[in-house]
Amino acid sequence: MTSDLYTYIAHKDQPYANPMGEAAMNRAADLLDLPPDASACDFGAGFCELALRLANRWGARVAAIELSPRIAQGAERRIAERPPQRGSVSLLKGDAGTFRPSFAPESMDLCACIGATHALGGYHKALEVLVKLTRPGGKILVGEGFWTSPEPSPSYLAATGIASDEFMLHFENIEHGIDMGLQSLWSITASPREWDEYEWAHAQAIEAYAAARPDDDEARQMLQRSRNWRRAYLRWGREHLGFGLYLFRKPG
Ligand SMILES: C[S@@+](CC[C@H](N)C(=O)[O-])C[C@H]1O[C@@H](n2cnc3c(N)ncnc32)[C@H](O)[C@@H]1O
Repeated sequence: MTSDLYTYIAHKDQPYANPMGEAAMNRAADLLDLPPDASACDFGAGFCELALRLANRWGARVAAIELSPRIAQGAERRIAERPPQRGSVSLLKGDAGTFRPSFAPESMDLCACIGATHALGGYHKALEVLVKLTRPGGKILVGEGFWTSPEPSPSYLAATGIASDEFMLHFENIEHGIDMGLQSLWSITASPREWDEYEWAHAQAIEAYAAARPDDDEARQMLQRSRNWRRAYLRWGREHLGFGLYLFRKPG
């Protein structure tokens, strides 16, 4: 089973591939207050919904970097169906780490990375990269998971394969940015309802995909994975895992 296909099927009919609801994502985009003709980048852009929003809302020129060929194709379809009315979205297909050096230091009015800090080496390294690329006075928007208590359930870690050091606590996500010299401007965390909407939409999409392919081994494996994930979400994930948006400003 390819993880790429699983992620694509789970999210292709959702605006975003993260647990924040669309209203919270829009609110984050609206708060950015980008200058005219802003340059922006979004690492792990998924289906480019945020990039489209940034272009339409602020007239920003957004470089959207996405590794998965399937998801990038989905993003291309969205951009073709809903071309931005102002600004632009340039989809760069490939690895975030490979594209990163092609952006000049301090050239971006906004650097974003939502649910994809692993693409840049994890939260700490991703923030370092985003800080380097952001111009003084520019903004950084990160979406990141967090543990709701200092000791995530070992059963949850075993069931999902998530390492305990993959995430920090919510306040630590913010304080790490402050320790790097950033100004913390705003943050919001996904509500239990947003999590439920996200997890069940994802589960329904995989159930429907597998039901339409009863003889397909890969679809069966995807279904098993989705049901295992859902079980872990219901038993432990709802209590232990959070997701936040973190908006920072680089001083200057
Ligand atoms: C959880 S999704 C979030 C997508 C989008 N930011 C959103 O919030 O809707 C993570 C995305 O990062 C992409 N990704 C993973 N590793 C990557 C890498 N090394 N370079 C670029 N994109 C990557 C995945 O294919 C996926 O589309």
